[in-house]
Amino acid sequence: MVTPVSRTAFVTGAARGIGLATVQRLLADGYGVVLGDVSAKGLAALDDFAAETGDRLIRATVDVTDSAQVQAAIDQAVERWGRLDVLVNNAGRNRIGDSYDTTPENWDWILDTNLKAVFFCSQAAVRQMRAQGGGAIVNIASTSASGMDGNPAYSASKAGVIGLTYTMAREVGPDGIRVNAVAPGATLSEWVQKNTPPERLQAMAEAAPLRRYAEPADIAAVIAFLASDDARHLTGQILSASGGAWMP
Ligand code: NAI
Repeated sequence: MVTPVSRTAFVTGAARGIGLATVQRLLADGYGVVLGDVSAKGLAALDDFAAETGDRLIRATVDVTDSAQVQAAIDQAVERWGRLDVLVNNAGRNRIGDSYDTTPENWDWILDTNLKAVFFCSQAAVRQMRAQGGGAIVNIASTSASGMDGNPAYSASKAGVIGLTYTMAREVGPDGIRVNAVAPGATLSEWVQKNTPPERLQAMAEAAPLRRYAEPADIAAVIAFLASDDARHLTGQILSASGGAWMP
């Protein structure tokens, strides 16, 4: 007998950081969740968490750039719970490289995951969502969509996510599918802890009106809202969770 769930979600890049915080939040909200990540090590580190959670969590090895793996993850949700209500396109990569030294390989490495895969994961999800009568997609953009020193590929990928959010929201809205994005500012995930000098992080916090950087759970709360029925009249919107650092 499968444990009853309130709704179901597939969260990509969820073995750590904002993705893992989102999985924890959605589980707390009663969801059944497919936690997908490319990192076998990251997935294995969640053994205790998975044991505590039981059958409301499916861990799946998913490289979002591999459409067969993406489809298999969605199929697992549908097989266990009969539907996929929410897709969170969280998987993202960054590699520092500026306008002088970014190579074509680095460009593709970032764009394939951060933008191309967001579209093709969404395409797989909306096919299922249209068949079942609706759903919600939450993309993760970034305040760096409007520019970030040392990061043209990353910045372009996140600006692309915003354009994609607008277009898909228009196209799939009539099928009852909402598409929105969160644009986080500096958020203390594993990637940021490893790659951002503390003084730079502090400076980013100081530059925001709320004078703080986000914890992953702060971003997860906004994702959970956009995924929920409380946001039933929102689509094609970009919510910046940045302590006020981004006011376009
Ligand atoms: P993170 O690096 O801590 O976690 C990212 C996860 O995605 C990792 O578990 C990694 O294995 C997984 N991943 C990477 N490539 C993948 C692929 N091809 N397929 C499946 N999984 C893959 O990152 P963080 O900071 O939690 O970021 C999450 C999202 O939020 C990303 O899209 C990032 O660009 C975005 N973001 C983060 C901000 C921050 O300050 N942390 C600010 C703005 C946006």
